[in-house]
Amino acid sequence: MTSEGSHGSRLAAEGVSKLFFAKGEPIWALRDATVAVAEGSFTCVIGPSGCGKSTLLRILGGLETATTGTVAKADGAAFVFQEHGVFPWLRVLDNVAFGARMAGMARGERTALARRWVERVGLAGFEDAYPHQLSGGMRQRVAIARAFATGSPVLLMDEPLGALDAQTRLLLQEELLRIWERERKTVVMVTHSIEEALLLGDRVLVMSARPGRVTAELEVPFARPRGMEVERDPEFAELRHRIWTLLRDEVAASLNGGGTSGTSGTGGTSGGVGR
Ligand SMILES: Nc1ncnc2c1ncn2[C@@H]1O[C@H](COP(=O)(O)OP(=O)(O)OP(=O)(O)O)[C@@H](O)[C@H]1O
Ligand SMILES: [Mg+2]
Repeated sequence: MTSEGSHGSRLAAEGVSKLFFAKGEPIWALRDATVAVAEGSFTCVIGPSGCGKSTLLRILGGLETATTGTVAKADGAAFVFQEHGVFPWLRVLDNVAFGARMAGMARGERTALARRWVERVGLAGFEDAYPHQLSGGMRQRVAIARAFATGSPVLLMDEPLGALDAQTRLLLQEELLRIWERERKTVVMVTHSIEEALLLGDRVLVMSARPGRVTAELEVPFARPRGMEVERDPEFAELRHRIWTLLRDEVAASLNGGGTSGTSGTGGTSGGVGR
């Protein structure tokens, strides 16, 4: 695990900047952001609202291009978005099978695959339901199942559990942990929750206020398989405190000077950490 470019890493950004124009005004979303993600690792990205986390993730997945810098992007990475990540016109099973269908997998095979994933995320019995018939937590399960079922070795998740109530979120964190520990895909996950990052990640990257840069990189030492009990480990409290100390000033900066009007994109309602 190194932060020096793309050697031995499937996924990396080096010195990446991103310039947007909003109503003719230039906005630097990222400036000199550097990330290297080791194959099969779980990396969490945390940072104040509007600091460029989603932009960085989209650049790593090739949905967006960097203005400057070098990117080793993951072609065909599976995305999980915070909300609206499932197709409303497709039944659960067809949503989960979507990636496999795009990849040309035969119907019988992809149906079997999708059934397995629907079961693994606890949605057995809802194969034929449409998304609008499901709760928010169930819809996110569909999105997560679909991402894993694509077979892509790289998963890019943008606050996948951010819109859920606290209890559903805890439940899905445990499920995600269990699934990932079995699959060991390369995951980069954006989250606002320090606890979630420490529960799930091998590593936590902390970003500065916009224009975002990666300002710190912390190894998460807890052995796997992990469970919620890590939260009782004194080291957990220690790490949580360290990350919050790193973030506090950045969050304040993003709320004060950093916030040109309308700059925080979709998730900008709270600006807070730990939701
Ligand atoms: N397509 C775009 N056009 C113009 N500006 C954009 C565009 N996408 C993002 N931005 C701006 O870039 C900055 C970073 O946005 P981004 O969505 O990456 O932040 P974020 O860290 O994901 O925020 P949040 O935590 O609120 O989700 C913001 O100022 C945002 O307004
Ligand atoms: Mg975002």
